[in-house]
Amino acid sequence: MEQPIRIGIVTVSDRASQGIYEDRGGPAILTYFQEVLSCSWQPVACLIADEQPLIEATLRQLCDDQGCCLVVTTGGTGPSPRDVTPEATLAVVDKEMPGFGEQMRAVSLKSVATAILSRQTAGVRGGSLIVNLPGKPKAIAECLDAVMPAIPYCIDLIGGPFVTCDPQRVAVFRPKP
Ligand code: MTE
Repeated sequence: MEQPIRIGIVTVSDRASQGIYEDRGGPAILTYFQEVLSCSWQPVACLIADEQPLIEATLRQLCDDQGCCLVVTTGGTGPSPRDVTPEATLAVVDKEMPGFGEQMRAVSLKSVATAILSRQTAGVRGGSLIVNLPGKPKAIAECLDAVMPAIPYCIDLIGGPFVTCDPQRVAVFRPKP
């Protein structure tokens, strides 16, 4: 039987990681994939502070040791001094995939002017795709809907597993061979 694919879900937040408030971003990502994916999968969830070395170590561990073909982060993409998730992402990827951030911002800007404040990006580390999302829980589905159609083919191209989605929810695009 096929092994379930593994997806890393990383909430980056000083306050949520200290228990000052509840993590709502990580659970929103979990719910999104529960609703959208039609293949067998399992989450590997982490809740960490906005510390660049810690974010980098977590991303490396999820990609290299936990075998996650996709790692989605939430939080730490803005302009504040403690916002360092894009820097950590860029430090661990082999290739940046700037189209993901461009597309998520373009879609988000239709509903919220402050979407321009997110420096969210994406990149490939070995056989794993890392995608940054903003910290606002309502941004999660909006941003993932904007890029999910292209994620399975990206994972094909880096040698990962065959990711499928419920076609009622997301129309995945794979070019014809
Ligand atoms: N994108 C969407 N789709 N919806 C939002 O509400 N909030 C913005 C932006 N992107 C937002 C969004 C705001 S207010 C900020 S400050 C930046 O994301 C960065 O957020 P972060 O630092 O929590 O990642």
